[in-house]
Amino acid sequence: MPGEELVRAAVAARENAVAGFSHFKVGAALETDTGEIFTGCNVENATYGLTVCAERVALWKALSEGRRKFRRLAVVADTETLTPPCGACRQLLWEFCGDIPLLLANLHGRREEVRLKDLFPRAFDQSFLE
Ligand code: THU
Repeated sequence: MPGEELVRAAVAARENAVAGFSHFKVGAALETDTGEIFTGCNVENATYGLTVCAERVALWKALSEGRRKFRRLAVVADTETLTPPCGACRQLLWEFCGDIPLLLANLHGRREEVRLKDLFPRAFDQSFLE
């Protein structure tokens, strides 16, 4: 699937963001190894701390539907400097997706592809527990 299609799915998911506290809407689209797409948006609530990022919502949706292999993730926010996943999401993406490419995008055509390993070097993961 072309990256632009994955970005479009993230743009659409962003519209569903529940971001009444920060007003910062984020959309994510995770592509599986077979080309399926699972989308997510950020979901905030009154206690703030229970907020879940768009990336994690997409990941939880895919995992809970039994998917285990992932190819790419698109992340979209309306920022000039492209928004990357937060630290918590980087950890979880690393553990469940490995070193996938991340397509970062905004609403005005700015795009950048980065590898998760470059955003999250020397990660702690299950390999340390073996
Ligand atoms: N947020 C995401 O959903 N993904 C990111 O990559 C960065 C931050 C959300 C969390 C919160 O709802 C809002 O953006 C402001 O931090």
